[in-house]
Amino acid sequence: MTYDIAHLPGDGIGVEVTDATLPLVDRVADDHGFSVETTRYEWGSERYLEHGSMMPEGALERLAEHDAILLGAVGHPDIPDHVTLRGMMLPIRKTFDQFICERPSVLFEGVESPLRGYEGGDIDFVVYRENTEGEYSDVGGREHRGHEHELAVQSAVFTRHGTERIVRAAFEAATDRSGKLTNVTKSNAQAHGMVLWDDIVEEVAEEYPEVEVERLLVDAASMDLIRRPDEFDVLVASNLFGDILTDIGAIVSGSMGLAPSANVTHDERYPSMYEPVHGSAPDITGQGIANPLATILSASMMLDDLGEPGAADALRDAVTDQLADPDAPRTPDLGGESGTGDVVDDLRERL
Ligand code: NAD
Ligand code: IPM
Ligand code: MN
Repeated sequence: MTYDIAHLPGDGIGVEVTDATLPLVDRVADDHGFSVETTRYEWGSERYLEHGSMMPEGALERLAEHDAILLGAVGHPDIPDHVTLRGMMLPIRKTFDQFICERPSVLFEGVESPLRGYEGGDIDFVVYRENTEGEYSDVGGREHRGHEHELAVQSAVFTRHGTERIVRAAFEAATDRSGKLTNVTKSNAQAHGMVLWDDIVEEVAEEYPEVEVERLLVDAASMDLIRRPDEFDVLVASNLFGDILTDIGAIVSGSMGLAPSANVTHDERYPSMYEPVHGSAPDITGQGIANPLATILSASMMLDDLGEPGAADALRDAVTDQLADPDAPRTPDLGGESGTGDVVDDLRERL
Protein backbone atom coordinates (compact mmCIF):
# COMPACT_ATOMS: atom_id res chain seq x y z
CA MET A 1 0.00 0.00 0.00
CA THR A 2 1.29 3.46 -0.91
CA TYR A 3 -0.21 6.69 0.40
CA ASP A 4 0.13 9.80 -1.64
CA ILE A 5 0.79 12.82 0.57
CA ALA A 6 0.93 16.46 -0.44
CA HIS A 7 3.64 18.28 1.51
CA LEU A 8 2.95 21.99 1.91
CA PRO A 9 5.84 23.36 3.95
CA GLY A 10 4.52 26.92 3.63
CA ASP A 11 6.40 29.64 5.48
CA GLY A 12 8.83 30.21 8.33
CA ILE A 13 9.20 27.31 10.73
CA GLY A 14 6.50 25.49 8.75
CA VAL A 15 9.31 24.44 6.42
CA GLU A 16 11.55 23.34 9.26
CA VAL A 17 8.97 21.29 11.15
CA THR A 18 7.51 19.48 8.15
CA ASP A 19 10.98 18.69 6.73
CA ALA A 20 11.79 17.27 10.15
CA THR A 21 8.62 15.18 10.28
CA LEU A 22 8.43 13.44 6.92
CA PRO A 23 11.53 11.23 7.28
CA LEU A 24 10.00 9.86 10.50
CA VAL A 25 6.75 9.16 8.69
CA ASP A 26 8.76 7.23 6.09
CA ARG A 27 10.46 5.33 8.83
CA VAL A 28 7.26 4.18 10.59
CA ALA A 29 5.73 3.36 7.22
CA ASP A 30 8.70 1.07 6.47
CA ASP A 31 8.33 -0.57 9.85
CA HIS A 32 4.62 -1.18 9.30
CA GLY A 33 4.67 -2.50 5.76
CA PHE A 34 3.40 0.42 3.71
CA SER A 35 4.98 3.35 1.95
CA VAL A 36 4.39 7.05 1.64
CA GLU A 37 5.00 9.04 -1.49
CA THR A 38 5.23 12.77 -0.94
CA THR A 39 5.01 15.64 -3.37
CA ARG A 40 6.49 18.87 -2.08
CA TYR A 41 4.77 22.03 -3.24
CA GLU A 42 6.89 25.16 -2.88
CA TRP A 43 3.90 27.40 -2.39
CA GLY A 44 3.53 30.24 0.05
CA SER A 45 4.87 33.68 0.80
CA GLU A 46 8.19 33.43 -1.06
CA ARG A 47 6.20 32.52 -4.15
CA TYR A 48 3.86 35.43 -3.47
CA LEU A 49 6.77 37.87 -3.28
CA GLU A 50 8.10 36.54 -6.60
CA HIS A 51 4.93 35.82 -8.59
CA GLY A 52 2.15 37.68 -6.81
CA SER A 53 0.17 34.64 -5.68
CA MET A 54 0.53 32.09 -2.90
CA MET A 55 -0.42 29.12 -5.07
CA PRO A 56 -0.47 28.63 -8.85
CA GLU A 57 -3.65 28.27 -10.83
CA GLY A 58 -5.13 24.79 -10.51
CA ALA A 59 -3.43 24.27 -7.14
CA LEU A 60 -6.57 23.04 -5.39
CA GLU A 61 -7.26 20.55 -8.19
CA ARG A 62 -3.75 19.17 -7.79
CA LEU A 63 -4.10 18.92 -4.03
CA ALA A 64 -7.43 17.15 -4.41
CA GLU A 65 -5.63 14.20 -6.04
CA HIS A 66 -3.69 13.37 -2.87
CA ASP A 67 -4.72 11.08 -0.01
CA ALA A 68 -3.82 13.66 2.64
CA ILE A 69 -2.03 16.96 3.09
CA LEU A 70 0.67 17.80 5.61
CA LEU A 71 0.91 21.56 6.06
CA GLY A 72 3.56 23.52 7.98
CA ALA A 73 2.30 27.06 8.48
CA VAL A 74 1.45 30.16 6.50
CA GLY A 75 2.34 33.75 7.34
CA HIS A 76 5.13 36.19 6.52
CA PRO A 77 6.06 39.41 8.34
CA ASP A 78 6.25 41.40 5.05
CA ILE A 79 2.81 40.43 3.73
CA PRO A 80 -0.54 41.14 5.41
CA ASP A 81 -1.89 37.97 7.02
CA HIS A 82 -5.28 38.24 5.36
CA VAL A 83 -3.52 38.04 2.00
CA THR A 84 -1.38 35.00 2.78
CA LEU A 85 -3.98 33.02 4.72
CA ARG A 86 -6.77 33.72 2.29
CA GLY A 87 -4.36 32.83 -0.50
CA MET A 88 -3.36 29.44 0.77
CA MET A 89 -4.54 27.85 3.97
CA LEU A 90 -8.14 28.98 4.48
CA PRO A 91 -9.24 28.08 0.89
CA ILE A 92 -8.00 24.52 1.41
CA ARG A 93 -10.03 24.02 4.58
CA LYS A 94 -13.10 25.45 2.92
CA THR A 95 -12.89 24.05 -0.62
CA PHE A 96 -12.24 20.55 0.67
CA ASP A 97 -15.05 20.96 3.20
CA GLN A 98 -12.75 20.07 6.12
CA PHE A 99 -15.47 20.83 8.60
CA ILE A 100 -13.95 19.15 11.65
CA CYS A 101 -10.90 20.78 13.15
CA GLU A 102 -9.82 18.29 15.79
CA ARG A 103 -7.32 19.70 18.28
CA PRO A 104 -6.23 17.60 21.24
CA SER A 105 -4.48 19.11 24.28
CA VAL A 106 -2.51 16.63 26.33
CA LEU A 107 -0.11 17.35 29.15
CA PHE A 108 2.48 14.64 28.53
CA GLU A 109 4.46 12.97 31.28
CA GLY A 110 7.68 14.95 31.72
CA VAL A 111 6.29 18.21 30.39
CA GLU A 112 5.83 21.16 32.69
CA SER A 113 2.58 23.10 32.54
CA PRO A 114 2.78 26.80 33.38
CA LEU A 115 -0.14 26.05 35.70
CA ARG A 116 0.76 25.14 39.24
CA GLY A 117 -0.03 21.64 40.45
CA TYR A 118 -0.58 19.84 37.16
CA GLU A 119 1.42 16.80 36.18
CA GLY A 120 1.69 14.58 33.16
CA GLY A 121 -1.64 12.93 32.44
CA ASP A 122 -3.70 15.54 34.30
CA ILE A 123 -4.77 17.44 31.17
CA ASP A 124 -6.29 15.55 28.27
CA PHE A 125 -9.07 17.19 26.29
CA VAL A 126 -9.93 17.70 22.65
CA VAL A 127 -11.56 20.67 20.96
CA TYR A 128 -13.89 20.04 18.03
CA ARG A 129 -13.74 23.31 16.18
CA GLU A 130 -16.16 24.12 13.36
CA ASN A 131 -13.88 24.81 10.42
CA THR A 132 -15.86 26.06 7.41
CA GLU A 133 -18.22 28.84 8.48
CA GLY A 134 -19.18 30.84 11.59
CA GLU A 135 -17.06 33.91 12.18
CA TYR A 136 -14.68 32.95 9.34
CA SER A 137 -17.37 33.21 6.66
CA ASP A 138 -16.46 35.43 3.78
CA VAL A 139 -19.70 37.40 3.98
CA GLY A 140 -19.52 41.14 4.26
CA GLY A 141 -17.45 43.86 2.72
CA ARG A 142 -15.79 47.19 3.07
CA GLU A 143 -17.36 50.35 1.73
CA HIS A 144 -16.50 54.03 1.38
CA ARG A 145 -12.79 53.33 1.60
CA GLY A 146 -10.77 56.28 2.77
CA HIS A 147 -13.83 58.36 3.66
CA GLU A 148 -14.77 59.34 7.14
CA HIS A 149 -17.90 57.24 6.89
CA GLU A 150 -15.90 54.13 5.86
CA LEU A 151 -17.45 50.92 7.11
CA ALA A 152 -16.72 47.22 7.26
CA VAL A 153 -19.27 44.44 7.70
CA GLN A 154 -18.05 41.02 8.78
CA SER A 155 -20.94 38.62 9.18
CA ALA A 156 -20.83 35.37 11.09
CA VAL A 157 -22.80 32.66 9.33
CA PHE A 158 -24.24 29.69 11.20
CA THR A 159 -26.11 27.10 9.18
CA ARG A 160 -28.12 24.22 10.58
CA HIS A 161 -26.14 21.83 8.37
CA GLY A 162 -22.76 23.24 9.38
CA THR A 163 -23.54 23.36 13.07
CA GLU A 164 -25.24 19.98 13.25
CA ARG A 165 -22.36 18.09 11.66
CA ILE A 166 -19.65 19.48 13.95
CA VAL A 167 -21.86 19.01 17.01
CA ARG A 168 -22.60 15.42 16.01
CA ALA A 169 -18.87 14.73 15.46
CA ALA A 170 -18.19 16.07 18.96
CA PHE A 171 -20.90 13.88 20.51
CA GLU A 172 -19.41 10.86 18.73
CA ALA A 173 -15.99 11.75 20.17
CA ALA A 174 -17.47 12.19 23.64
CA THR A 175 -19.13 8.78 23.33
CA ASP A 176 -15.74 7.22 22.49
CA ARG A 177 -14.01 9.06 25.32
CA SER A 178 -15.33 9.73 28.83
CA GLY A 179 -18.86 10.74 27.87
CA LYS A 180 -18.57 14.41 28.69
CA LEU A 181 -19.10 17.29 26.29
CA THR A 182 -18.72 21.02 26.84
CA ASN A 183 -20.69 23.27 24.53
CA VAL A 184 -18.84 26.57 24.18
CA THR A 185 -21.24 29.36 23.30
CA LYS A 186 -21.94 33.07 23.49
CA SER A 187 -25.69 32.99 23.25
CA ASN A 188 -26.03 35.64 25.93
CA ALA A 189 -24.80 38.26 23.46
CA GLN A 190 -25.20 36.70 20.02
CA ALA A 191 -28.86 35.92 19.98
CA HIS A 192 -29.10 34.64 16.40
CA GLY A 193 -26.14 32.48 15.44
CA MET A 194 -25.19 31.23 18.88
CA VAL A 195 -28.78 30.55 19.92
CA LEU A 196 -29.23 28.40 16.81
CA TRP A 197 -25.96 26.72 17.83
CA ASP A 198 -27.28 25.99 21.35
CA ASP A 199 -30.64 24.77 20.00
CA ILE A 200 -28.82 22.30 17.79
CA VAL A 201 -26.62 21.07 20.63
CA GLU A 202 -29.80 20.39 22.61
CA GLU A 203 -31.44 18.58 19.70
CA VAL A 204 -28.43 16.38 18.98
CA ALA A 205 -27.99 15.70 22.70
CA GLU A 206 -31.29 13.80 22.63
CA GLU A 207 -29.64 11.22 20.37
CA TYR A 208 -26.82 10.76 22.91
CA PRO A 209 -28.49 10.41 26.31
CA GLU A 210 -25.34 8.82 27.76
CA VAL A 211 -23.27 11.96 27.11
CA GLU A 212 -23.26 14.54 29.89
CA VAL A 213 -23.47 18.03 28.40
CA GLU A 214 -22.16 21.15 30.06
CA ARG A 215 -22.74 24.60 28.57
CA LEU A 216 -20.17 27.36 29.06
CA LEU A 217 -20.01 30.87 27.71
CA VAL A 218 -16.74 31.35 25.86
CA ASP A 219 -15.38 33.93 28.28
CA ALA A 220 -15.97 31.59 31.21
CA ALA A 221 -14.62 28.65 29.19
CA SER A 222 -11.39 30.59 28.60
CA MET A 223 -11.06 31.09 32.32
CA ASP A 224 -11.93 27.51 33.19
CA LEU A 225 -9.43 26.06 30.71
CA ILE A 226 -6.84 27.72 32.92
CA ARG A 227 -8.56 27.23 36.28
CA ARG A 228 -9.63 23.57 35.87
CA PRO A 229 -8.28 22.15 32.59
CA ASP A 230 -8.32 18.63 34.07
CA GLU A 231 -12.14 18.60 34.10
CA PHE A 232 -12.57 18.93 30.34
CA ASP A 233 -12.90 16.08 27.91
CA VAL A 234 -14.50 17.10 24.60
CA LEU A 235 -15.34 20.71 23.76
CA VAL A 236 -17.30 21.84 20.75
CA ALA A 237 -16.85 25.40 19.57
CA SER A 238 -17.39 27.70 16.63
CA ASN A 239 -14.57 28.55 14.25
CA LEU A 240 -13.24 31.63 16.06
CA PHE A 241 -13.88 30.41 19.59
CA GLY A 242 -12.17 27.11 18.74
CA ASP A 243 -9.19 28.98 17.32
CA ILE A 244 -8.69 30.98 20.49
CA LEU A 245 -9.38 28.16 22.94
CA THR A 246 -6.86 25.88 21.25
CA ASP A 247 -4.01 28.33 21.82
CA ILE A 248 -4.99 28.26 25.50
CA GLY A 249 -5.11 24.47 25.30
CA ALA A 250 -1.66 24.40 23.73
CA ILE A 251 -0.01 26.53 26.37
CA VAL A 252 -1.62 24.97 29.44
CA SER A 253 -0.35 21.64 28.19
CA GLY A 254 3.19 22.91 27.87
CA SER A 255 3.87 24.62 24.55
CA MET A 256 2.56 25.75 21.20
CA GLY A 257 5.23 23.41 19.91
CA LEU A 258 3.31 20.37 21.14
CA ALA A 259 -0.19 21.05 19.82
CA PRO A 260 -1.32 19.05 16.77
CA SER A 261 -4.39 19.42 14.61
CA ALA A 262 -6.43 17.65 11.95
CA ASN A 263 -8.73 19.34 9.44
CA VAL A 264 -11.03 16.52 8.50
CA THR A 265 -13.36 16.24 5.55
CA HIS A 266 -15.98 13.56 5.02
CA ASP A 267 -16.20 14.30 1.30
CA GLU A 268 -14.49 11.42 -0.47
CA ARG A 269 -13.42 13.63 -3.34
CA TYR A 270 -11.07 15.53 -1.07
CA PRO A 271 -8.15 14.96 1.29
CA SER A 272 -7.99 15.95 4.94
CA MET A 273 -5.18 18.24 6.06
CA TYR A 274 -2.89 17.88 9.08
CA GLU A 275 -0.92 20.76 10.57
CA PRO A 276 0.38 22.03 13.88
CA VAL A 277 -1.82 24.55 15.70
CA HIS A 278 1.02 27.06 15.70
CA GLY A 279 1.98 29.50 12.96
CA SER A 280 5.14 30.35 11.06
CA ALA A 281 6.84 31.83 14.16
CA PRO A 282 8.95 34.49 12.44
CA ASP A 283 10.61 35.24 15.79
CA ILE A 284 12.50 31.91 15.71
CA THR A 285 12.58 31.11 11.98
CA GLY A 286 15.96 29.96 10.67
CA GLN A 287 17.43 29.31 14.11
CA GLY A 288 16.94 25.55 13.99
CA ILE A 289 15.15 25.53 17.34
CA ALA A 290 11.50 25.07 16.33
CA ASN A 291 9.84 22.23 18.19
CA PRO A 292 8.82 19.65 15.57
CA LEU A 293 6.65 17.58 17.93
CA ALA A 294 3.35 19.35 17.14
CA THR A 295 3.83 18.46 13.49
CA ILE A 296 4.98 14.93 14.27
CA LEU A 297 1.85 14.42 16.40
CA SER A 298 -0.22 15.85 13.53
CA ALA A 299 1.40 13.30 11.22
CA SER A 300 0.41 10.62 13.70
CA MET A 301 -3.21 11.80 13.46
CA MET A 302 -2.86 11.63 9.67
CA LEU A 303 -1.62 8.03 9.74
CA ASP A 304 -4.46 7.08 12.05
CA ASP A 305 -7.04 8.59 9.70
CA LEU A 306 -5.40 6.92 6.69
CA GLY A 307 -6.03 3.58 8.41
CA GLU A 308 -2.54 2.91 9.78
CA PRO A 309 -3.08 2.94 13.56
CA GLY A 310 0.06 0.87 14.23
CA ALA A 311 2.32 3.40 12.56
CA ALA A 312 0.37 6.27 14.14
CA ASP A 313 0.87 4.78 17.61
CA ALA A 314 4.56 4.12 16.99
CA LEU A 315 5.13 7.76 16.16
CA ARG A 316 3.12 8.98 19.11
CA ASP A 317 4.71 6.50 21.50
CA ALA A 318 8.17 7.68 20.46
CA VAL A 319 7.14 11.26 21.28
CA THR A 320 5.62 10.16 24.60
CA ASP A 321 8.83 8.27 25.51
CA GLN A 322 11.04 11.14 24.57
CA LEU A 323 9.07 13.68 26.60
CA ALA A 324 9.08 11.38 29.64
CA ASP A 325 12.88 10.99 29.48
CA PRO A 326 14.62 13.74 31.46
CA ASP A 327 17.84 13.15 29.51
CA ALA A 328 16.27 13.47 26.07
CA PRO A 329 16.89 16.54 23.92
CA ARG A 330 14.34 19.35 24.20
CA THR A 331 13.86 22.53 22.26
CA PRO A 332 13.91 25.87 24.15
CA ASP A 333 10.10 26.20 24.26
CA LEU A 334 10.20 23.15 26.57
CA GLY A 335 13.04 24.57 28.62
CA GLY A 336 15.82 22.75 26.77
CA GLU A 337 18.77 23.83 24.67
CA SER A 338 18.54 21.38 21.79
CA GLY A 339 17.66 21.94 18.18
CA THR A 340 14.97 20.56 15.89
CA GLY A 341 17.45 18.06 14.41
CA ASP A 342 18.49 16.69 17.81
CA VAL A 343 14.88 15.99 18.70
CA VAL A 344 14.33 14.18 15.41
CA ASP A 345 17.55 12.13 15.70
CA ASP A 346 16.55 11.04 19.17
CA LEU A 347 13.08 10.03 17.98
CA ARG A 348 14.59 8.03 15.15
CA GLU A 349 16.61 6.06 17.69
CA ARG A 350 13.54 5.43 19.81
CA LEU A 351 11.67 4.16 16.75
P1 NAD B 1 2.87 31.54 16.14
O1 NAD B 1 2.15 30.31 16.54
O2 NAD B 1 3.61 31.49 14.87
O3 NAD B 1 3.91 31.91 17.30
C1 NAD B 1 3.49 32.25 18.63
C2 NAD B 1 4.65 32.02 19.61
O4 NAD B 1 4.84 30.61 19.80
C3 NAD B 1 5.98 32.57 19.11
O5 NAD B 1 6.70 33.07 20.20
C4 NAD B 1 6.67 31.36 18.55
O6 NAD B 1 8.07 31.41 18.57
C5 NAD B 1 6.16 30.22 19.43
N1 NAD B 1 6.09 28.95 18.70
C6 NAD B 1 5.16 28.62 17.80
N2 NAD B 1 5.41 27.40 17.31
C7 NAD B 1 6.53 26.96 17.89
C8 NAD B 1 7.31 25.77 17.79
N3 NAD B 1 6.97 24.77 16.97
N4 NAD B 1 8.41 25.66 18.55
C9 NAD B 1 8.78 26.64 19.40
N5 NAD B 1 8.07 27.78 19.54
C10 NAD B 1 6.97 27.94 18.80
O7 NAD B 1 1.81 32.73 16.16
P2 NAD B 1 1.94 34.26 15.68
O8 NAD B 1 3.29 34.78 16.05
O9 NAD B 1 0.73 34.91 16.17
O10 NAD B 1 1.84 34.20 14.10
C11 NAD B 1 2.94 34.19 13.22
C12 NAD B 1 2.43 34.05 11.80
O11 NAD B 1 1.86 32.76 11.61
C13 NAD B 1 1.34 35.05 11.43
O12 NAD B 1 1.56 35.40 10.09
C14 NAD B 1 0.05 34.25 11.58
O13 NAD B 1 -0.98 34.72 10.78
C15 NAD B 1 0.51 32.90 11.12
N6 NAD B 1 -0.26 31.75 11.65
C16 NAD B 1 -0.47 30.72 10.80
C17 NAD B 1 -1.06 29.57 11.24
C18 NAD B 1 -1.27 28.44 10.29
O14 NAD B 1 -0.72 28.44 9.20
N7 NAD B 1 -2.03 27.42 10.63
C19 NAD B 1 -1.45 29.45 12.58
C20 NAD B 1 -1.23 30.53 13.43
C21 NAD B 1 -0.61 31.68 12.98
C1 IPM C 1 -4.99 28.37 13.25
C2 IPM C 1 -4.61 29.76 12.76
C3 IPM C 1 -5.52 30.18 11.61
C4 IPM C 1 -6.96 30.15 12.08
C5 IPM C 1 -5.17 31.56 11.05
C6 IPM C 1 -3.73 31.63 10.63
C7 IPM C 1 -6.08 31.99 9.95
O1 IPM C 1 -4.64 30.67 13.81
O2 IPM C 1 -4.96 27.42 12.46
O3 IPM C 1 -5.27 28.23 14.44
O4 IPM C 1 -7.42 31.11 12.68
O5 IPM C 1 -7.62 29.17 11.82
MN1 MN D 1 -4.95 29.75 15.75
